[in-house]
Amino acid sequence: MTHRNNCLTKLKNYALVGIASIAIFGCETSSNNSGDNTAATVTTAINASYDSQFRGNYWTKEDSQAVYLNEEASIDDRIKDLMSRMSLEEKCAQMIQGERKHVSDDDIEQYGLGSLLSGGGSLPGDNEIEDWQMMITDYQSAAYKRKLKIPLIYGIDAVHGHSNVRGATIYPHNIGLGAANNDSLMFLMGKLTSQEVFMTGINWNFSPCLALARDPRWGRTYESFSTDHNIISKLGRAYTKGAMSVNMVACAKHYIGDGGTTYGTGLGEKVDRGNTEITNEELTNELLPPYRAQLDQKVQTVMPSYSLINGVKMHAHDSLMNKVLKGEMGFEGFLISDWQAIHEIPNQTFEQQIATSVNAGVDMLMEPEKWKEALELLVKNVNDGNISLERIDNAVTRILRVKFESGLFEDPAQRVNQNKATQLRSNEAKSVATALGEQSMVLLKNDNGALPLKEGSKVLLIGEGSNNIGLQCGGWTIEWQGGVDKDGKRHTEGVTILEGLNAAAGENKMEIITDETRANEADVVLLVLSERPYAEMQGDSDDLSLTGTHAHEGNKDAIAAAQKSGKPVVCVMLAGRHLVDLDRHIGNWDAAVMAYLPGSEGGSAITNVLTGKKNFVGKVPMPWYDKIEDIKKPSAKLLYEVGYGLTY
Ligand code: BGC
Ligand code: BGC
Repeated sequence: MTHRNNCLTKLKNYALVGIASIAIFGCETSSNNSGDNTAATVTTAINASYDSQFRGNYWTKEDSQAVYLNEEASIDDRIKDLMSRMSLEEKCAQMIQGERKHVSDDDIEQYGLGSLLSGGGSLPGDNEIEDWQMMITDYQSAAYKRKLKIPLIYGIDAVHGHSNVRGATIYPHNIGLGAANNDSLMFLMGKLTSQEVFMTGINWNFSPCLALARDPRWGRTYESFSTDHNIISKLGRAYTKGAMSVNMVACAKHYIGDGGTTYGTGLGEKVDRGNTEITNEELTNELLPPYRAQLDQKVQTVMPSYSLINGVKMHAHDSLMNKVLKGEMGFEGFLISDWQAIHEIPNQTFEQQIATSVNAGVDMLMEPEKWKEALELLVKNVNDGNISLERIDNAVTRILRVKFESGLFEDPAQRVNQNKATQLRSNEAKSVATALGEQSMVLLKNDNGALPLKEGSKVLLIGEGSNNIGLQCGGWTIEWQGGVDKDGKRHTEGVTILEGLNAAAGENKMEIITDETRANEADVVLLVLSERPYAEMQGDSDDLSLTGTHAHEGNKDAIAAAQKSGKPVVCVMLAGRHLVDLDRHIGNWDAAVMAYLPGSEGGSAITNVLTGKKNFVGKVPMPWYDKIEDIKKPSAKLLYEVGYGLTY
């Protein structure tokens, strides 16, 4: 079934087949507006009793007596009882995760998969809240039609807010959060993001990312808080604490070595998915501590990295997954493989890759497309003696524990979840995202009192990023690789820099000019430079200049126009990493601000620091190299050291 948008038709169909199993708040409105009594009656009936949603229609007498379906029973007893009822096939199915585009409701009913995900940009219907709720409800209803009624756990990358969903609050990407380094705000971000995720019926977020990015040529650099593992531990911990305070299932990723790979060993002979060379000391002192911090918070899931550690694929790394993470560190949750990552285990058939990764500790396989084959081969591996039944039982126990603990059995589609937000981009969420944005800004240079912008001044604002939500949000926003506003259509909701400045212009008696031919009237030029949005794989680049491969194509002209104006220039950079030829340009500017990828509220955040309403507190969270050749060289002369950042 494709989850298209016609709520009304859908409700009627449900009424016809007698399954009062959906209650979509948006549908209520549309049915009321339409004045269609049938639909309105159906909606009311559906809302009348939550029990009738997932229980009333399907529960048999036997079910009401089953220990595992009794929420009063202990989780251990519930797991034991459920496990005793499951066949090998049912157990193996719990260990498989498919992707929504490749799995129908009927597939769920037939195979009983344990999990589904939305890949980056994999969106139901018109990407409205109701589309999501309806999709999840349909899937969970399908799972409920099976004898054992085990709910699915649905995962999504809400990596900087619920970033697949149009209109969600988009927070700064991790690199900016590392510059802000504020754990109280991170706690709130974890909590508020989770609350928006619950609105869509989902309770598992593939976040936080604890990458330690050492090479800015890596396209995922912005997913890393810092090169300082203490900052990663502190911010990751606070975020997970916030998420878990409302019972979101968090996912610490990517265990481990992501960001540390040697240039030339990754995809396209670059960085992503390459090999990380480390010593035991680095492993113990730098890479594992952020995960220890997550385990202190009792994080329930961990995703291994695509990368290799000293030549061994993390997804096949028995010692680091079984011995270290589950053994020495005592991780009791489950390991979810990354997207088709086990396919990259070299020189093995798919069947062998499944055995290798599961035996090395992976508990659930993210197999977006080949889920059916993965399921068959997992069962075959057990029957052939390549994977022990004991190992399967252990994996399934871990998965079921998370499902029970997170309340999925009682509320599979987050219908009655008291923690869910009542709207996207609430005032509270916007203010936390704005505060994080403000604190993430790093003031690199401020000569001749160029900043704060003066009261009464005329500001010429140029550069594509000055009025483009997509550019200030970056990758993993609505689409996997992100996108830009075009043809008057915004990539998602938010406040652009132009809008932020205009909103503050009255109070500051400023005039914002966007017409370059009026440059002569301006007191100052605000030059906004940006990178085009990108994400994993496609974001790798070995030309990190301000006009390099991933820079916005308008940067060059904007730089020239600013120069030509002869006015004082303040440059604001929207980028996911520290660009390298800055030294060639910064001498021409009076002030420069690194804004990273500040998200939907970026325009307000930038305005508040530029006008001096807020001071700068952000500090460079990673080394800022001047030249590509210097990257990762301990002897390199840096443009800015970690911790650099001016204030007013
Ligand atoms: C990424 C993960 C992400 C997963 C699901 C992978 O390609 O590496 O970070 O959680 O896809 O979208
Ligand atoms: C998906 C992402 C995933 C990536 C991995 C994309 O098609 O949308 O979520 O991480 O593939 O290759």
